[in-house]
Amino acid sequence: MSEVIVELGYRTYKIIVKDGSINTLQENLDDHKRIKNLVLISHDSLMRFYGFSIKENLEKIGYKVIDISLPDGDSSKDIEIYKSIIEKMIQSNCDRTSIIVALGGGVVGDISGFVASSFMRGINYYQVPTTLLSMVDSSIGGKTGLNFSNKKNAIGSIYQPDAVIVDPNLLSTLPFAEKVSGLGEIIKYGAIYDRNFLVDISKWIKNIDNFPYSKAIERCCQIKAEIVSKDERENGLRRILNFGHTIGHALESFMGYENIRHGEAVSFGMKCSTWISHKKGFLSTDDYNLLISIINQLPLQKLSAVNPEKIMHYIEFDKKHENGKLNFILLKGLGKVTISQDVTKNEILESLQVLNEN
Ligand SMILES: NC(=O)c1ccc[n+]([C@@H]2O[C@H](COP(=O)([O-])OP(=O)(O)OC[C@H]3O[C@@H](n4cnc5c(N)ncnc54)[C@H](O)[C@@H]3O)[C@@H](O)[C@H]2O)c1
Ligand SMILES: [Zn+2]
Repeated sequence: MSEVIVELGYRTYKIIVKDGSINTLQENLDDHKRIKNLVLISHDSLMRFYGFSIKENLEKIGYKVIDISLPDGDSSKDIEIYKSIIEKMIQSNCDRTSIIVALGGGVVGDISGFVASSFMRGINYYQVPTTLLSMVDSSIGGKTGLNFSNKKNAIGSIYQPDAVIVDPNLLSTLPFAEKVSGLGEIIKYGAIYDRNFLVDISKWIKNIDNFPYSKAIERCCQIKAEIVSKDERENGLRRILNFGHTIGHALESFMGYENIRHGEAVSFGMKCSTWISHKKGFLSTDDYNLLISIINQLPLQKLSAVNPEKIMHYIEFDKKHENGKLNFILLKGLGKVTISQDVTKNEILESLQVLNEN
């Protein structure tokens, strides 16, 4: 078990990583005597696996639990779903003393966080991440959001949870492809922040069926907590978490969100960014080979016919939203990064060819 603190003044909170922690959730929640309702937001399948037993445990000790199930998939990060949650909360007499528990991956976490940040000007909420990606990334740091008008996370806020409770046992039901997506983000933490961790990952990944998830989750939570504590609103340091994401996001738009998982797209994006870092002379050939060989051990899908020009179009679209400047995260050795504004279009196009070589 480990406890990681996200240091943010009076909004400081804990990340608890512990096997079985969903069975003792109340230890980390607001006391039931002080709250009117506990709103448990999840998916049907997760309610069946874990949610109903959590609900029963909490009701036994005096919580009034209202459960809300959302359809699976990113399409749930939607304003109509948002409205339906708020309506249900009002009908159930929720008020400012009510709390939300988000039991799910990034989809449930993002919309629940946004509901929490806006319902009656903000109520307390807790993240109980169930995917590997949400355990190491999306549940920490307070980014909440909805998609709107075909734009990912067009509406959202930065609103910190009151605790993040991670139970690595929940991974036992997570499909393997979702684990691979989370592993992409885990590799990212090693690449940008901790060379020794990356070297550990390089050994663990050789035997992926026995990957020590708990250990890796703990280290990722520490790294993310440290970064968010120093730069909550992404004015500087927090941007380094976007390593692999400029190309990753473009690939997601190019392929369609239903055809590629986020962490998988980021893995491809990291390959390209690693290639550019090497090309620019920031990364030695040995380091380049080590990181690429780690990513290559992930069972990623075969990309058929990547069209660099089309992907470039999405990158340029993103660039327009950044005042015409592309802030590209590059590696300066393993475990260290630099933010570059002079990655050229040609370098990006060439790096995308690497994906066709698979
Ligand atoms: N807020 C942030 O900082 C942040 C960061 C990265 C990504 N995101 C967002 O996260 C979302 C993606 O999240 P995700 O990758 O966790 O996917 P997800 O929430 O869509 O979950 C993936 C699938 O796994 C299922 N599932 C979840 N946990 C399970 C379990 N323990 N057992 C069995 N099935 C389980 C879900 O029902 C779903 O079908 C995107 O919307 C992305 O924008 C947010
Ligand atoms: Zn990501």
